[in-house]
Amino acid sequence: MIRLAGIDIGNDSVKLVMGGGHEPIIIPSVVSPGYERHVLQEEDSPLKALDVMVYSPKLKKRNQRYFIGMLASEDQDNVELEETDNKATSDQSLIVALTALAYASIAGSAAQAQQPGQTRDEAEYVIGTGLPVRTYARYHQQFEERLVGEHEVTFLSTPKLKGRTVRLLIRKAIISIEGAAALFNMATHDNLQVRDEELYNGCIGVCEMGALTTDFPVIKRMSIDNQFSTGEQLGLASYLDAIIRDVEDQHGYRFASRTKLVQRIRKGAYTIQRPGEGKADIRSIVDNYFGRAAQKIVDLIRKRWKKYPDIECFYVLGGGAAALKPYIHEAAEGMRLRFVEDSELQNVYGYLKLARNKMNQAEVV
Ligand SMILES: Nc1ncnc2c1ncn2[C@@H]1O[C@H](COP(=O)(O)OP(=O)(O)OP(=O)(O)O)[C@@H](O)[C@H]1O
Ligand SMILES: [Mg+2]
Repeated sequence: MIRLAGIDIGNDSVKLVMGGGHEPIIIPSVVSPGYERHVLQEEDSPLKALDVMVYSPKLKKRNQRYFIGMLASEDQDNVELEETDNKATSDQSLIVALTALAYASIAGSAAQAQQPGQTRDEAEYVIGTGLPVRTYARYHQQFEERLVGEHEVTFLSTPKLKGRTVRLLIRKAIISIEGAAALFNMATHDNLQVRDEELYNGCIGVCEMGALTTDFPVIKRMSIDNQFSTGEQLGLASYLDAIIRDVEDQHGYRFASRTKLVQRIRKGAYTIQRPGEGKADIRSIVDNYFGRAAQKIVDLIRKRWKKYPDIECFYVLGGGAAALKPYIHEAAEGMRLRFVEDSELQNVYGYLKLARNKMNQAEVV
């Protein structure tokens, strides 16, 4: 059985959806070196303790142990991605992506179907994924070659999956463009029929803000405009890093990772416990940097729209949109911008649809 999956290999988190409509799987793109850990109480879900050996001929270190996602986000030695990283060539991105694909293939119903004593599983995939506007032209082929082929992931101390090895066979990778795929998702139904005529036939601007890049594709009748589409090497991560620095300087409290900070911001839990008995409110630090980020985004959109007045409407998407929405509204001063629910998942749903679209066409040919 070949499975179809959409996978958004984000700098902040890898998001994965399987064809057939399950909940998306989201794994923070955080990795730390793995070791024999003392488990006092087992975590209640495998995603809380991804402890894996990853083998792939495409990795520089071919057979290494890693803690991934939530487990790594607590670790002092963890690594989050930086501006200089390129997801098309980054080993870290590939490691998290392969772990996500392996996990998806044995999580849920498939896991129960396993025979006693069986520890090896095989999963064959066709995947849809994507790259930022400015990376796409130069790197999409290389990215595809890295993904396609055979890889192997073994789960070590991960609850429920201990000792299981998944051989991944990626048959095909269909690479799309970040932001453009999101719009394709919004314009079509699951069966790929047109859902929104205005989006499908119009000239639409997109600002998709991720952790390290912000993409500005312009899409005309569902085709990407080569001349006006562009991207910036700027995302929410640099603002999160600045918040982490200021909180440490002012309050002596250090967040172990951006993921830990975002968890708090999402919950609106702005009060931190300082070493000792004091508490501190970090809201004003967050407001300051998010206000600046929003202003920057609004300025960039205004500039793009001026350059290309044919754009009928502008969508603000990505996790950055979710984080900054109230701040962007304030900074936009009357310029009408559109937001959607689950903005950070629009790309991955788009990748799945585009991959399905491509496979359908392939069957006809
Ligand atoms: N609801 C939210 N509130 C606050 N921050 C959020 C929210 N949703 C996402 N974020 C943050 O927004 C940033 C961008 O998230 P997103 O998932 O779009 O990044 P990514 O796709 O992994 O990165 P990139 O597109 O650069 O590869 C991340 O730092 C993420 O933690
Ligand atoms: Mg993204």
